[in-house]
Amino acid sequence: MRLPLFVFFVSSLLVGCNKSPAPPSLVPKPVSLKLLEGDLVIGPAFQINAPNTEEGKRLVAFLEQALKERSYRTSPDGTPITLQGVSYDTLVPEGFHHLTVDRSGIHIQSNTGSGIFYGIQSLLQLLTEPTHTGEMPFLDIVDYPRFPYRGLHLDVGRHFFPTAFVKQYIDWLAFHKFNYFHWHLTEDQGWRIEIKKFPALQTIASQRKETLVGHAGTPETFDGKPHGGYYTQDEIREVVQYASDRFVTIIPEIEMPGHSLAALAAYPTLGCTGGPYEVGTKWGVYPDVYCAGKEETFEFLESVLDEVVALFPGPYVHIGGDESPKDRWKVCRVCQKRIQTEGLRDEHELQSYFVRRIEKYLNDKGRRLIGWDEILEGGLAPNATVMSWRGEEGGITAAQQGHQVIMTPGNWMYFDHYQDTTGNEPLAIGGFTSVQEVYTYEPVPASLLPEQTRFILGAQANLWTEYIKTPEYAAYMTYPRACALAEVVWSPKGARNYEDFLKRMGVHLPRLKSLGINYATHLESQLKPH
Ligand code: ACM
Ligand code: ZN
Repeated sequence: MRLPLFVFFVSSLLVGCNKSPAPPSLVPKPVSLKLLEGDLVIGPAFQINAPNTEEGKRLVAFLEQALKERSYRTSPDGTPITLQGVSYDTLVPEGFHHLTVDRSGIHIQSNTGSGIFYGIQSLLQLLTEPTHTGEMPFLDIVDYPRFPYRGLHLDVGRHFFPTAFVKQYIDWLAFHKFNYFHWHLTEDQGWRIEIKKFPALQTIASQRKETLVGHAGTPETFDGKPHGGYYTQDEIREVVQYASDRFVTIIPEIEMPGHSLAALAAYPTLGCTGGPYEVGTKWGVYPDVYCAGKEETFEFLESVLDEVVALFPGPYVHIGGDESPKDRWKVCRVCQKRIQTEGLRDEHELQSYFVRRIEKYLNDKGRRLIGWDEILEGGLAPNATVMSWRGEEGGITAAQQGHQVIMTPGNWMYFDHYQDTTGNEPLAIGGFTSVQEVYTYEPVPASLLPEQTRFILGAQANLWTEYIKTPEYAAYMTYPRACALAEVVWSPKGARNYEDFLKRMGVHLPRLKSLGINYATHLESQLKPH
């Protein structure tokens, strides 16, 4: 980490010019920021005052560590930072806070721990500046999020990412006031979460023998190198705690009935044909999925979910549900018998039966089910939340049916897409999604009736990793597009202005650099002087 540096474009920069100083550049843009007359001198040390509660202590520990990483000390004679719980008359359920800088120091007030935390994040952005003046202007910021769901996803199935990177990913998303991390833990090409009851998930399902080189073509070539890895339950607990300290809820995803080839390779009797199966070495959609006729499938998944629920305290479990071909079910005697005995019309209704049954199991354990928009096919499970990825239609339909929706449509929210059209980018899956496109995304579809809009919880970007093999490349694909998304989901709709965002990104990109984020540099040529 570089030395903490400030640039507030203070009056000295503007001598001889009657413009008032530019306000500090926060991303996402706050609801209200007033620049007041005067500056607080910032020295090398801070003194933190906070309530002596469990939450107060956690916030102080976080802030102390973050200040240390920015080369500040804490000392009884340092500049005071006061964290204070207050009661507000606000309907905002989460994140509302007040951050002031005046001659007595820095004050962060909120009625929730998350509010204090987001005030701290704004302060940390101001303390991660590229040049140092030793002064912070007097400020009055009132801020709160537009949407309750602000998410980023990471696929660790196609390529495994070590715990240290997962923590960084969470730290960076908290820096941008996201509050959900969707951890895509199981795939055709690898199962990444330790399940103690099923050791072959570790020994067999977490490893593939080799990986397809480049995009599928003929002839196909493979790298001949084994790839694998999984998180132990101790590591998962560590990551869950790390996220919780940053007010980030983790949504674990355990894919079913499709994208389950790795699990079938470990436990072939869970498939319709009985195998043998091999952990996936290519991308795309495989025809082999869990058999929906066998009771053994549900016994297996329920036992897996028992361990998942014990590890992840958050309210949601994502069960996938996308891209599950019906080929095997159509010719499987037991699947067809299930269709008959349950009075189902077809294989789509069989998938609906599958999801409803899993939903009931999760609901009985006090958890809510999330699925990709294919779970609408054959009828939505009664309490399901839908992630709309094949465009916005699934999300619109689900909201019209009174179901909660998270918007993640491919055109705007797939960060595995290319970032320019020059052909000079590192190999990606395809597509093209620029920072500006992300920035212009509006999560609430215009076609919804006003009373249906409340079902749109927010939006999320997805990072699928078929072609993303390293943490550096994952960071490159995520930033700065995630900065644009942060503003979409946090800032008031009326405050969104791309020119203004670009100005602030001129200050924010160097912050990303000082945090060690290997961000994509396309935006740099568009930046304007502040
Ligand atoms: C997905 O991209 N298959 C959800
Ligand atoms: Zn079957």
